[in-house]
Amino acid sequence: MIESLEHKIFDAEKIKKDFPILNTKINGNPLVYLDTASSAQKPQQVIDAICKYYSQQHSNIHRGVHHLSQIATEGYENARKRVTEFLNAEFHEEIIFTKGCTESINLVASSFTEGFMQAGDEIIISEMEHHANIVPWQRVCEKFGYKLRYIPINSAGELELDEFEKLLSEKTKLVSIVHFSNSLGTINPVKYIIEKAHEVGAKIMIDGAQSAQHLPVDVQDLDCDFFTFSGHKIYGPTGIGVLYGKKALLEKMPPYQTGGDMIRSVNMLKTEYNDIPNRFEAGTPNIAGAIGLKSAIDYVDSIGMKNIESYEKELMEYADEALREIKNVKIIGEAKNKSGVISMNIEGIHHYDLGTLIDQMGVAVRTGQHCTEPVMDKLGITGTLRASFGIYTTKEDIDIFIASMQKAIKMLS
Ligand code: ALA
Repeated sequence: MIESLEHKIFDAEKIKKDFPILNTKINGNPLVYLDTASSAQKPQQVIDAICKYYSQQHSNIHRGVHHLSQIATEGYENARKRVTEFLNAEFHEEIIFTKGCTESINLVASSFTEGFMQAGDEIIISEMEHHANIVPWQRVCEKFGYKLRYIPINSAGELELDEFEKLLSEKTKLVSIVHFSNSLGTINPVKYIIEKAHEVGAKIMIDGAQSAQHLPVDVQDLDCDFFTFSGHKIYGPTGIGVLYGKKALLEKMPPYQTGGDMIRSVNMLKTEYNDIPNRFEAGTPNIAGAIGLKSAIDYVDSIGMKNIESYEKELMEYADEALREIKNVKIIGEAKNKSGVISMNIEGIHHYDLGTLIDQMGVAVRTGQHCTEPVMDKLGITGTLRASFGIYTTKEDIDIFIASMQKAIKMLS
C-alpha cells in the first residue's frame, strides 16, 4: 500500500532535469544513458558543491588553525558524519574515506589479513565477483600462503548456497561477497551469508559497489564487518569511496598506507600511529570528493532510498518484459532477485557490434566482460551487452533502447 503511494511521487522526468549531461545530443539524438552501473551521472547540486568548495573553501584539512583550513576540515568531517547516518553505522570513526571500492577491498585484503590471518587460513569469495573483489585476495593468498575458495554460481547466475556452507570451516577467516552483481544483476542474500560466516567465526565484507545506490543499507542490521561503496556510482564524484568497518575490528588492524595524518608522533626511531579513522587515511585526502559525496547522499536521500528501490524494481520489470519480446534475445542472469542491470546477447550478433551501432543512435550501454571475466568463462560466453538503470532512467529511455536494438539487429542480421 505504502509502496504504491510512493511510486506516485517518483518523477524520473523531473529528476533527469537535475543532471545537465543528460541534455547531451549524440549524432543529433537525445542521449539515453544506460551505463549507470559503470558510472552514474552527477546532479547539478553535486557539481555546485564541488565548485563552491574549490572556489570558496579549499585548504588542507586537519593541519591549519586558519579560517579556510577549519572550514575545509568541517566540510570533510561533516561528510563523514553524513555517511555514518546514510549507512546507519554506530560510530563516525567506522567510516574511512578511500578512492572507491577497489581501494577499500585492497585495504582490507592487506590490513585485515596482516592483523588476523596466518598461512593455511582461508578466504571465501565467489565466482560472481568483479575483478576488484578477486585480484586483491589472489595477491595476498599468493604472498602469504592463504587459500582462496570460490562459491560456485548456477546457470541462472545465483550463488550455490549449499556449496558455500560446505566451504565454511574453522579455517575460514574472511568472506568477501558482492551484494548486487554488476554483470548479472543478481541480488545476493547477504544477511544469510553474513550469519553463516559468523557461525564459524569468520569476518565478512560486503561489496556494495552496485547496491548502495539502489536500496537502503543498514550496516548494523546487516551485521557485516566491512561494507564498501563508491562515490561515482551513487551520483557523486569519482575518486572517493567509503569503507565501513566495525570499530572494534578497525582499532586492531595495522595501517594500510603510511604518511602524514595517519600518525600521532614521529621521531627518527619510531612512529606512533593515529586513532581510527585517520590511521587509514594517510596523506592529503580527496576533500572535494568527500564534500561532493555528501551532496550526492543528500540528493538521493531527498528522493528516498525506499522510493528509489521500488521505482527501479518497476523499471527492471518493464525493461525485462520488453526485451523478451525481441527475437533471439537471451537474457544473461536469470536470478529471481535482480536489480540495476540487465545483461543480454542476441543469437548470431556480437554484443560489441550491437553496442557500437546503438551508440550511433544515442544509446549508451556497456559491452564486454564488465570486469567479471570468471563469470563469462563460467557461462561460456565472451561477454554481454548490458543496460543499467538509475534514478533518471525513464520508461521512455527504455522504449528508445528497445527500438534502437530492433533497428540495429535488423541491420546486422
Ligand atoms: N564495475 C563497473 C561496471 O560494472 C566499472 O561497469
